[in-house]
Amino acid sequence: MKTDAGGCDKSEPRVDAASFIAANMVIAPAPSVPEINLYTAHPGSGLWRLVGRGEAGEEPPYWAYRWAGGMVLARYILDHPETVSGKRVLDLGAGSGIVGIAAMKAGATSVVAADIDENAVIAIGLNAALNHVPVEAMLGDLTIGPPPAVDLIAVGDLFYEPSLALRVTAFLRQCLAARIQILVGDPGRAFLPHAHLLPVAEYPVSDFGEGDAIERKPSVVFSFIEAEE
Ligand SMILES: C[S@@+](CC[C@H](N)C(=O)[O-])C[C@H]1O[C@@H](n2cnc3c(N)ncnc32)[C@H](O)[C@@H]1O
Repeated sequence: MKTDAGGCDKSEPRVDAASFIAANMVIAPAPSVPEINLYTAHPGSGLWRLVGRGEAGEEPPYWAYRWAGGMVLARYILDHPETVSGKRVLDLGAGSGIVGIAAMKAGATSVVAADIDENAVIAIGLNAALNHVPVEAMLGDLTIGPPPAVDLIAVGDLFYEPSLALRVTAFLRQCLAARIQILVGDPGRAFLPHAHLLPVAEYPVSDFGEGDAIERKPSVVFSFIEAEE
């Protein structure tokens, strides 16, 4: 999944991420999750000035968009607060932070929202503040470490690349063995580990690249389980 950050003047200096986001992105409720406002990219945002044009090492600005996997998971958590109430939650591959924000709104005791993109970490902080909830934004790849000290891991739209999907699946299996509950939200990306997924809910939501007016497609919330032999 690559997004078009637009524009192409490489000579312009990069800017401070927090100031850039506040000045150039619009605050808008997430489709299907109107309880949550997010700094959102629009055609005039000129995101390339912040993130470059996708050259080697530059992360696409996934955090700037609303993904079906995150929205379906956030919707489910807000509709079923008992899922997270009183729990320590990790939002893995948090992007905008929409899932972690939903978890805090629904009564989680704490949320860590982790992402490998430093701009995402800035955006998560800004989005959490917009929604008046405390979320600890963490930079890093937790999939290369041991299971974290949380009760529940929420994974929105993280199975879009084969090597990433394999790594995330192996990590989640370790977390499951450590008795951590795991929920996955996904619109049916190519590299979903179906053998580990038990559907628990389905909602029609729009995906990145689809306007809010476009017909919404079903996306699924899964419980991540050990695969049967
Ligand atoms: C498609 S976006 C989904 C964002 C959010 N979960 C949602 O559903 O709206 C995927 C996000 O995962 C992040 N990511 C990719 N690999 C990661 C990893 N190993 N650990 C943490 N975050 C990762 C990307 O930077 C990006 O922000």
